[in-house]
Amino acid sequence: MADPNKDRPSEPGGIEKKTLHVYDGDLQEEDNQLPNWWLWLFYGTVTFGVIYWLVVHDMRIADLPDEAYRKEVAAMQAAEAKKLGASTVTNDSLLAMSKDAVLVKAGKDVFMANCVACHKADAGGLVGPNLTDAYWIHGGAPEQIYHSVHDGYLDKGMPAWGAQIGEEKVRQVVSYVLTLKNTNVPGGKAPQGDKE
Ligand code: HEC
Repeated sequence: MADPNKDRPSEPGGIEKKTLHVYDGDLQEEDNQLPNWWLWLFYGTVTFGVIYWLVVHDMRIADLPDEAYRKEVAAMQAAEAKKLGASTVTNDSLLAMSKDAVLVKAGKDVFMANCVACHKADAGGLVGPNLTDAYWIHGGAPEQIYHSVHDGYLDKGMPAWGAQIGEEKVRQVVSYVLTLKNTNVPGGKAPQGDKE
């Protein structure tokens, strides 16, 4: 049989085409070389796969994505807590927060989620005292309100919120409570404590 590759023009890119068999005179089976870029991509993915498996799954040198994500979030939360812990609360810092609409709105959400059962949705008071009048059992200065919310009065039925919702939310809800002071909602509970 005559060599079917004789006089065959070379393909663009230097890829060699070979005809392996010729059937019935003109039915040809070809053996086409894979392009080099494809081959290297293929070898590359295989090598990457093996290395990734060894490093991440077998030797556990690097973290799996969800583990890495968890660690990053934990580190961020720790940094945030440190930052908040470092900046001590003062009357001024709390008053400044109560002028920030975004923080006050966040504080209102915290209030609606945690406080309404005892202080009522309008903060006029139920089991807990009216937070909209000028009378305070434990003092109405920003730092005193912060202390009331953060540490609670467990023997009187006011939970300690610092441990339950965290520092940031306590500050937000205090900034919201500060906006309620002296708004005297109608139908509020009778005053308790001393006039500020
Ligand atoms: C389980 C009921 C309950 C819940 C929930 C509750 N409180 Fe209270 N709160 C009380 C009681 C009761 C008192 C009064 C404590 C006392 O008599 O010493 C009080 C007191 C307070 C005081 C001090 C008021 C004053 O006159 O000095 C503040 C401020 C306050 N609560 C804010 C909040 C905030 C903010 C939340 C939500 C994060 C909240 N409370 C959730 C029951 C509750």
